[in-house]
Amino acid sequence: MTQTLKNIQPVTTSAPVMLVTGSAKRIGAAIVRAAHKQGYRVIIHCHHSEQEANALANELNETHAHSAVVIMADLAVVNNSETLEQFTNNIMQAFGQLDVLVHNASRFYPTPLGSIHHDQWDELILSNAKAPLLLSQALYPYLKMQQGCIISLLDIHAHNKPFANYTVYNMAKAAHRMMVQSLALDMAPDVRVNGVAPGVNILPEADSDQALDNEQQNKIISSIPMQRIGIPPEIAHSVLYLVQASYVTGEIITVDGGRSLTLAGGH
Ligand SMILES: NC(=O)c1ccc[n+]([C@@H]2O[C@H](COP(=O)([O-])OP(=O)(O)OC[C@H]3O[C@@H](n4cnc5c(N)ncnc54)[C@H](OP(=O)(O)O)[C@@H]3O)[C@@H](O)[C@H]2O)c1
Repeated sequence: MTQTLKNIQPVTTSAPVMLVTGSAKRIGAAIVRAAHKQGYRVIIHCHHSEQEANALANELNETHAHSAVVIMADLAVVNNSETLEQFTNNIMQAFGQLDVLVHNASRFYPTPLGSIHHDQWDELILSNAKAPLLLSQALYPYLKMQQGCIISLLDIHAHNKPFANYTVYNMAKAAHRMMVQSLALDMAPDVRVNGVAPGVNILPEADSDQALDNEQQNKIISSIPMQRIGIPPEIAHSVLYLVQASYVTGEIITVDGGRSLTLAGGH
């Protein structure tokens, strides 16, 4: 289980600090970039994508010195109270404060009925539900000090519209969705907790086992009223809205080009 802190530099500014889990690339990186552009200092968390995370931090630090750090850890650190405490300490040592926690890290793959294995259950529940909850709990005292907020990346399939063959993922995101609403109650009035539910906002990487061929992509596009796949900055935009929405808590914003209107579950 790796857990290291990189690129730490003395900080002289008093800008707010945002941690985005799983933010070396894709939607997480878009959130980091957008927040940094708005003046945030950012903590880029990654697990395997160390190179991409360091490249992103270097790029941001070139724009504004001492404004980005990388923390590398498998979110399985939450399974043990000592490793969770070490992870929390690393996060708080980065800039000495935390204003916004974004739960973005996720595993996503099908679990067809008949072949669901307990390892898949553990992995999908860990990244999509257990780690967000235990990390929120561990960081709550620091977020409270800043009157900060938590934003969770959910999914349009987390509520009423299950994605066929993805039962465990659907269940994990549904638990995460309920976490948002439960913690919004339990952390009020000090910390607001909200979520963003993407539809299809970036396709699986072309070299991944989730990659979609042209026909599959066209089928998805034709099911989306906006007639296109979304882009990661459109998710980042809603995350930053929720950060600033001082009277909004327990809310989940759907950002899917209208796709959930056309879905009755399934693909
Ligand atoms: N893509 C979409 O259109 C879409 C649709 C609906 C919902 N969402 C939600 O939006 C969020 C971002 O989507 P995405 O497609 O950009 O995510 P992604 O690329 O599938 O995953 C983001 C990162 O999660 C990290 N991660 C996974 N398991 C981890 C673990 N055990 N410990 C630490 N890090 C772990 C990985 O970091 P490393 O690479 O460093 O290992 C990965 O890069 C996710 O929560 C996703 O469920 C996305």
